[in-house]
Amino acid sequence: MTVRFKTPADRHAWRRFVALVPDEAGHRPGTQLDPADLTTDYHRYDGPYLLAEVEGEIVGAVFVVPPDPVLGYHRDHVIEFHVDVLPGWRRQGVATALVENLVEWARVKGDVRKLEAACLGWNEPVIAMLKGAGFTEEGRSERSWMVRLEGSGTEYDDVVHMGLWIGK
Ligand SMILES: CC(C)(COP(=O)(O)OP(=O)(O)OC[C@H]1O[C@@H](n2cnc3c(N)ncnc32)[C@H](O)[C@@H]1OP(=O)(O)O)[C@@H](O)C(=O)NCCC(=O)NCCS
Repeated sequence: MTVRFKTPADRHAWRRFVALVPDEAGHRPGTQLDPADLTTDYHRYDGPYLLAEVEGEIVGAVFVVPPDPVLGYHRDHVIEFHVDVLPGWRRQGVATALVENLVEWARVKGDVRKLEAACLGWNEPVIAMLKGAGFTEEGRSERSWMVRLEGSGTEYDDVVHMGLWIGK
């Protein structure tokens, strides 16, 4: 497996990867998806993206959420990211390799002091993976995420704030 940044030459492999990422990735099973969920982050953001590649196919990606200009300089020291691994490639260290590479890139970059990821409370896989990569759970916004269930009914999930300080 190779971990590297996405380039324009990856466009065909990238399209195949995006098509294989399930719409419900990151959502609790049984969630009635919102149309906004179907416009995945991959279509919304330009990156940068780190890719995990095996024999020319992309099997996982981590991307940095672009800074929100409304927040001014106050969050310039923070990188927020999302990570996805194709279902058939999970539990093989792909996400860990991507996140470790992102952390290393952030350390070399120099101006980054902190990495953050907001996860849903049900998503123990990503929380465990991030803890394994050195992140800590810094807090929870309780019942911050409303979930309409596929049958009927509504539930409220926590948003879990995972962070890693790399500053001095
Ligand atoms: C969460 C996700 C990125 C993990 O990717 P992955 O490549 O399978 O993770 P890794 O193989 O690096 O796992 C590292 C460790 O995390 C934990 N972990 C990962 N998946 C787990 C699971 N399903 N259940 C319990 N622990 C899990 C384990 O401790 C694992 O180490 P181990 O396999 O030696 O036990 C992947 O399941 C995924 O893409 N999910 C859908 C998208 C998503 O939820 N993204 C996060 C949105 S915030």
